[in-house]
Amino acid sequence: MHKTSSLAAHLALIILLVCPALSSAQQLKPILLLKPQTDGGRPLMQVLKDRKSSRAFSSEKLPPQVMSNLLWAAFGVNRPESGKRTAPSAVNWQEIDIYVATTDGLYLYEAKPHTLKPILAEDIRALTGTQPYVKEAPVNLIYVADFSRMGKATDEQKVFYSAAGTGFISQNVYLYCASERLVTVVRASIDKPTLEKAMRLRSDQRITLAQSVGYPKK
Ligand SMILES: Cc1cc2nc3c(=O)[nH]c(=O)nc-3n(C[C@H](O)[C@H](O)[C@H](O)COP(=O)(O)O)c2cc1C
Repeated sequence: MHKTSSLAAHLALIILLVCPALSSAQQLKPILLLKPQTDGGRPLMQVLKDRKSSRAFSSEKLPPQVMSNLLWAAFGVNRPESGKRTAPSAVNWQEIDIYVATTDGLYLYEAKPHTLKPILAEDIRALTGTQPYVKEAPVNLIYVADFSRMGKATDEQKVFYSAAGTGFISQNVYLYCASERLVTVVRASIDKPTLEKAMRLRSDQRITLAQSVGYPKK
């Protein structure tokens, strides 16, 4: 009996040492996002008139319904029968993942179940960009291309298609933010090696861009 429990303790220690990401993610709970409200918003032409980048964020958090709507607008499933999404993707590879960095930790947006999967129980917002305002934004989206989903594409195609795919998603976020009077800015200024390490990404996952979202600073 004693031997069994000591073996279990050793195994737990090995798991903690080998899988730090797993251990920290376990402190966060998965978030089942609210059903997105897909019948609201301001008229498209007015939203286009207001679309812009802003960099002054209030620390106010996004309410759960706004977080749900934002992620659905970004790259949610808009045709459940086919699993297709609110933004196009080359060959329908759907290679872009949206990671969501908040004060609570880092999550992965899973579009089909419309959930946030815990990745890290750490506030890594400050690492998601090199500019000072980044850590003030309550939400920083990190767009990550999963090259393993891109079939037989060449390396050049993988980089080009995933950059293009990110652009469509980012513009969806811009339009949602303009509609809801949230502020946002898409960002390439990122220390990618440091952030990829902090996020424990695989070598075939590449950060493309990041995007800060929040309410305007008063
Ligand atoms: C690919 C790309 C990368 C960008 N990178 C940054 C960035 O790192 N930091 C930043 O503050 N803004 C960044 N921007 C935002 C641009 O500065 C902004 O779109 C531009 O000044 C035009 O302003 P507007 O978006 O309000 O029209 C980026 C925009 C794009 C499209």
